[in-house]
Amino acid sequence: MNLGSLKVSNPYLLAPMAGYTDMPFRKICREFGCALTFSELVSVNALCFDNKKTLQYLKRDGIDKPFCIQLFGSEPELFKEAVQRVEDLCECIDINAGCPAPKVIRAKAGAYLLKDTDNFLKIIDAVVKATKKPVSIKMRMGYDAPNSDDLYRAIEDRGVSFITIHGRLKKEYFKGEVDYNHIAHVKELINIPVVANGGIDSFKKLQRVKAITGCEFFMVGQAAIGKPFIFEDFLSKRDTKRDLEFIKSVMLRHLSYLYNFSGKKAISQFRKFFHAYLKGYPNVKKFNNMINRCSDYYEAVEIIEKVGKPT
Ligand SMILES: Cc1cc2nc3c(=O)[nH]c(=O)nc-3n(C[C@H](O)[C@H](O)[C@H](O)COP(=O)(O)O)c2cc1C
Repeated sequence: MNLGSLKVSNPYLLAPMAGYTDMPFRKICREFGCALTFSELVSVNALCFDNKKTLQYLKRDGIDKPFCIQLFGSEPELFKEAVQRVEDLCECIDINAGCPAPKVIRAKAGAYLLKDTDNFLKIIDAVVKATKKPVSIKMRMGYDAPNSDDLYRAIEDRGVSFITIHGRLKKEYFKGEVDYNHIAHVKELINIPVVANGGIDSFKKLQRVKAITGCEFFMVGQAAIGKPFIFEDFLSKRDTKRDLEFIKSVMLRHLSYLYNFSGKKAISQFRKFFHAYLKGYPNVKKFNNMINRCSDYYEAVEIIEKVGKPT
């Protein structure tokens, strides 16, 4: 199917998430059927001035295609240069207009672009002109108040392939009610595909979001952490309860990908996933404590194997 000018195998996308959507996690989500992944947000300044180190973050596995690199910044010229540096590493370039982190807002980037719409549109122009690859926008539904129709129309007029709307304002960060009616309104307003994002955490919820928004494409963030098989649920059109042995096999696979990617650092990077995979399972506190103290790959494997067994 076509997401603007990008071909995708199904309508289900993994959200960009700083600190989470590295190559190993994206690979695991792909294995469960996710159709499009995004890099964590990458600074255009870092790409232009600190090229080598930043490019490390953009590595991907062969299965991880199509892949979108997400850029953030505030200077159109730097976006242009950054695009030239990364466009051969991906199938799509995404512009971040949603990050609420104070450091990013102070730099007049991320969600700040929703306030400084003149500069936002200049950035879009610069990126669209700089590449033949599809360009997408990932934006919140507003800064302090919902974005205007004029802004959405102006984005559409600039030749963007699709937009993703996270249905929360900047001040709402990542929690709380998602305004699916706003997303529905934008879907009606413009003719490029609109991807619905925010609060989709099960197939049941996906059906609700689809019914309200009328969207054909959906992006999942937090719910995929510890539950990458949510994509399989979407594709099989039902919510499946997996048993602990299955979860453990996914954990072991994820950890091995992370170890191949990051070496010794893998264990500390895996901890947050470990906790998320086991969330809601009984008697996991002692295993969470064990992994928090562990720094050796083989010991971490043993801890995972012991979960659910008497120690
Ligand atoms: C830990 C974390 C990191 C995030 N990093 C990014 C990012 O780098 N770029 C971005 O556009 N959005 C980022 N987001 C927002 C998500 O992409 C997504 O829009 C948001 O979490 C809402 O979707 P969800 O309710 O399915 O999680 C992040 C969210 C979280 C929780």
